[in-house]
Amino acid sequence: MKNLENKNILIGVTGGIAAYKVVEVASRLKKLGANVKVVMTKSATEFVSPRTFQEITKNAVYVEMFGDAANFNVAHISLADFADLVLVAPATANFLAKSAHGIADDLLTTTILAATAPKIFVPSMNTNMLENPATQDNIKILKQRGIKILEPADGELACGIVGKGRLPEPENICAEIVKFFSTEKILSGKKILVTAGGTLEPIDPVRYIGNRSSGKMGFEIAKAAENFGAEVILIAANTHLELPKNLKFVKVESAVEMREKVLSEFVSVDAVIMSAAVADYRVKNVSSQKIKKSEENLTLELVKNPDILKELGKLKTKQILVGFAAETENLFEYAEKKLAEKNLNFIVANNVSVEGAGFGVDTNIASIISRGGEVENFPLMSKAELAEKIIFKLIEILQGEKS
Ligand code: C5P
Repeated sequence: MKNLENKNILIGVTGGIAAYKVVEVASRLKKLGANVKVVMTKSATEFVSPRTFQEITKNAVYVEMFGDAANFNVAHISLADFADLVLVAPATANFLAKSAHGIADDLLTTTILAATAPKIFVPSMNTNMLENPATQDNIKILKQRGIKILEPADGELACGIVGKGRLPEPENICAEIVKFFSTEKILSGKKILVTAGGTLEPIDPVRYIGNRSSGKMGFEIAKAAENFGAEVILIAANTHLELPKNLKFVKVESAVEMREKVLSEFVSVDAVIMSAAVADYRVKNVSSQKIKKSEENLTLELVKNPDILKELGKLKTKQILVGFAAETENLFEYAEKKLAEKNLNFIVANNVSVEGAGFGVDTNIASIISRGGEVENFPLMSKAELAEKIIFKLIEILQGEKS
């Protein structure tokens, strides 16, 4: 089956020894039906001739930013517009650094800046260059911007050492591309409700009880669901993040308000992902005036907030329910208890006291625990990557239901 028919793939080739392997990548993508165009950096042409890619792709190969003035047709814009997907392989340390910092000093880096299509970069270099904190930081920046970075493989490198840094085999790179297109827009027609941020529980007109949730995890989940074609409703409390595009955004403050908005959308959605940190208690008697500083002690009486997710667990018909368990101890025990009590399909458990996980930071270390007791443990990764894992899990369940 030609599963890449009608797909326009732009391959960027940079100057690494593995450039020769990308000839086979281009050839395989062509055989799968894709229309392939290649942009090479000048140093890439030291390893492979543009003519080779031209023969394989049956398209012109682009190297120069400023070619023949008479035929100048703003190549970087037309190439950027052409692409349904941009693949850069091999991606050298130099390319990753430039791309992470928005440098556009040749045709490839300029095209990358202009391209809005999804991007997959495949780093390949000497192990020390790969492990250098500069390269690792650049990879981190790129991942956080939603660029997919394929893990380099282990093995013997051109420099003679054995380590991490090899370009993955062409068939594995192509498999990732096929996977990308087969899951693209897989959630179209599905409506997903995501909650994010931490609720604020008022004490008086100027004060509140809050928590440290930044809303980053929920925003990334909303973006990932939208990227896979879902119609997304994002209900968020107390976040100061840039609003993701193309989704319905509802701003709330307290748990009671969040409950009201969530319930009003619930019947029409296919899934709810409750990543909001909802306060467990609220102030019983909220003062209508600012409380004055008078007595030595001030006692606030708190009453329990509604457990929104638990309520949804009772109401649910077709909806997939996903919860979060942010804990500082007995993570799995508490997470499994919540999974059952709240009638969830799966729960994302993270220990918020571990460095790199939890509130405010851009990364997380989490596990997904499913109904049947199946546990997937993930290493430290960006919240954007974890969001994708969560959405993949959701897709798995939605597809399972279909069959
Ligand atoms: O019970 P706990 O607060 O630890 O459960 C966490 C999960 O339940 C999260 O998904 C959170 O969004 C949700 N939750 C809720 N309503 C509450 C408290 C938590 O929906 N009042």
